[in-house]
Amino acid sequence: MKLIICDSYEEGCLEGAKIILDVVKSNPKAVLGLATGSTPIGVYKEMVKDFKDNHTSYKDVISYNLDEYFGLEGTHPQSYRYFMEQHLFQYLDIDPANVHVPLGHGDIEKNADDYNAMLDKDVRDIQLLGIGSNGHIGFNEPGESFDSITHVVDLKESTIQDNAKLFFDGDIDAVPKKAITMGIKNIMDAKKILLMAFGINKRYAIKELVEGTMREEVPATILQKHDDVIVIVDKEAAIDLLK
Ligand code: PGA
Repeated sequence: MKLIICDSYEEGCLEGAKIILDVVKSNPKAVLGLATGSTPIGVYKEMVKDFKDNHTSYKDVISYNLDEYFGLEGTHPQSYRYFMEQHLFQYLDIDPANVHVPLGHGDIEKNADDYNAMLDKDVRDIQLLGIGSNGHIGFNEPGESFDSITHVVDLKESTIQDNAKLFFDGDIDAVPKKAITMGIKNIMDAKKILLMAFGINKRYAIKELVEGTMREEVPATILQKHDDVIVIVDKEAAIDLLK
């Protein structure tokens, strides 16, 4: 695991974007695993800037997002499909047919099976990850099996609270209580993993990820077993390391 400690969120996002852009530039047909949340917004900003300045093409790139809320249509402003359009896809030349976000409505079990079949076919060259304050990756909450594949989950109270604060004006009742997420095995299948975390709220998760015992109670600790992981953090998120 390679750990990069940055001075600021902006610096971290620039580093993160460079890593993703290297993958796209070296393989125009790259398969990207993408994430939502507050963390990747700055990375997507850098990718959009690069597209404008350097015209890196996404014409043949394929993308798979980690997760989606259950019960929200892709047109709902809090859906992750909508988030991706707003922050990234609308600015790039990516083919909409190559963009995949799990479907959070309709026959959700079938959606999960279909997503797993597609993920098996299109191995991600890089998977971008945030991390929950409780150590979740995607919406794989504490206790999830390391062998899990795309499935429906009940969100933990801490995740609902984090997301209410960040995206739902503090309105806990408005946050969906279920989601569909890539499983931990799907995440581990990616050739390279880039996990990013900023702020004091992530100190426990980063301490466990880097120095903790690998266990299902802290889902991100599985990444200790992957042979190509880059972790980008700021000093706040790294504050408990090596203490
Ligand atoms: P955040 O979420 O980027 O909004 O902090 C990360 C996560 O929950 O995976």
